Amino acid sequence: MSGELPGTKIDHLGIAVKSIAQARAFYEALGLRVTHEETVEHERVKTAMLPVGESRVELLEPTEEDSPVGKFLAKRGEGMHHVALQVEDITAAMERLKALGARFISDEVKVGAGGHLYFFVHPSSAGGVLVEIVQPAAESTHG
Ligand code: CO
Repeated sequence: MSGELPGTKIDHLGIAVKSIAQARAFYEALGLRVTHEETVEHERVKTAMLPVGESRVELLEPTEEDSPVGKFLAKRGEGMHHVALQVEDITAAMERLKALGARFISDEVKVGAGGHLYFFVHPSSAGGVLVEIVQPAAESTHG
């Protein structure tokens, strides 16, 4: 399938760190600020969001060693964990990727805190990069 999906942009870059408390100092030295922190219980991860222009850096600190981000840290150390692309129609994006035969981390769209929708595409289908597809919560798309 081809054709544009209007409104697609980089939503955030997810970076796996051992400690948000330590890692944030680098970004704060550059004038960035943490605007949102939360623990995502079902992913067993603490997150901190720092806006950068119209995108964001998302710091990810595992709450347990055997969580997805905890395993990533054990295997690869700190570093780039995923790239999140924001789309206006997440269902259309998933259908297009299914038509392409893409592999997903989970086969359904999930609802994140604050009501945004997301799913992850396996790195084997995206040039070795874990890709998160995000659709903002309805209220924030009209802001
Ligand atoms: Co993310």
